[in-house]
Amino acid sequence: MPDGLTRHLEAELNALREAGTYRTERELEGPQDAEVKVNGREVVMLTSNNYLGLANHPRIRAAAREAVDAWGYGMASVRFICGTDSLHLELEERIADFFEADAAILYTSCWNANEALFATILDDPDAVFSDELNHASIIDGIRLCKARRHRYPHADLEALEKLLDEDESRHRVVVTDGVFSMEGELADLSALLDLCERKRATLVVDDSHATGVLGARGRGTAEEQGVHGRIPITTGTLGKALGGAAGGFVAGPRAVVETLRQRSRPYLFSNALPPMIVAASLAAFDLLDAEPERVARLRENTRWFRDALRERGFDVREGIHPVVPVMVGDTALAIRLSGELFERGIYVSGFGFPVVPKGEARLRCQISAAHTRDELARAVDAIAEVGQSAGVIVA
Ligand SMILES: Cc1ncc(COP(=O)(O)O)c(C=O)c1O
Repeated sequence: MPDGLTRHLEAELNALREAGTYRTERELEGPQDAEVKVNGREVVMLTSNNYLGLANHPRIRAAAREAVDAWGYGMASVRFICGTDSLHLELEERIADFFEADAAILYTSCWNANEALFATILDDPDAVFSDELNHASIIDGIRLCKARRHRYPHADLEALEKLLDEDESRHRVVVTDGVFSMEGELADLSALLDLCERKRATLVVDDSHATGVLGARGRGTAEEQGVHGRIPITTGTLGKALGGAAGGFVAGPRAVVETLRQRSRPYLFSNALPPMIVAASLAAFDLLDAEPERVARLRENTRWFRDALRERGFDVREGIHPVVPVMVGDTALAIRLSGELFERGIYVSGFGFPVVPKGEARLRCQISAAHTRDELARAVDAIAEVGQSAGVIVA
């Protein structure tokens, strides 16, 4: 006989089912790639963060396999207790160089990195200013810290300036996503840097969706905007463009990184990143540097896809990022179209309220350097077909 709590949760789950917002997961029968196998058939994957197509790349797979043989499977503890592999140190140095930072520290995810950062470096007399559309991991990371919290309207630098002017805290940190993942929209890092410098604040950028994606060498939003090497503190993930397995990091001044190593709870109390993932991530950085044409192909694929959808009459917002939202308005419609597209061999997610504002539901397409033109063309045809019958084509 279920207890009261279990019955309560069952009722809530049933309510989700009735509201049509219960999430189900599709079962993949093979590797994550430009096309994936589901229910015995191949479908075009248009909704993963596999931006550079490295999630199933032979060199990445080989690096992981070789590392299992050379370094074993797991670390079986945290680094300050059981030791640090040379591989961890090598990857941290690589990440620091990548961002032209003094130092970097690894976590098992960017979620953990964001959870670690604010609570460790800020205290009672300090303040943090966060864009209202920042990622959930930043929001939760800030919740864990004792500093005063301010939320500024999305990308509104005038409002941010006013908040900074009214605040007299000891240390002030402004934090933004480099790329906002529902829109593929870039933060204006140059303007934010300028504001932070004038107002005695430290800028933190979570560049998870731009690392390996933006800038000619894939260095991210800052490189794209001509301010590479100037961001005081960067957080990011190895779980998207750079192989897509797991791992996150903070890169910044040595004192910040050393403080995190001494005091941050996810570093001190949670297992180290497994060596196979560290080795494969190093291979991903090698591939990015050896083949910058991957970044160019991703850019070109994205441009082609956006243009093709616009030619078919869709409302596709301006942008250069491989997140390409196709606006459909209504949440139920976005979910329905996502299902219809899947039937046509295109795997794309529909997002609606509360993840995005009411009336702005969308199909969020994500392009990869691994997509062939044929795969993208099939996706555009299918989106046009279902969009036409649903009346969401604007032209
Ligand atoms: C901006 C941002 N930060 C952090 C994360 C979390 O990254 P990870 O999967 O490494 O925890 C994500 C993932 O969706 C993200 O988009």
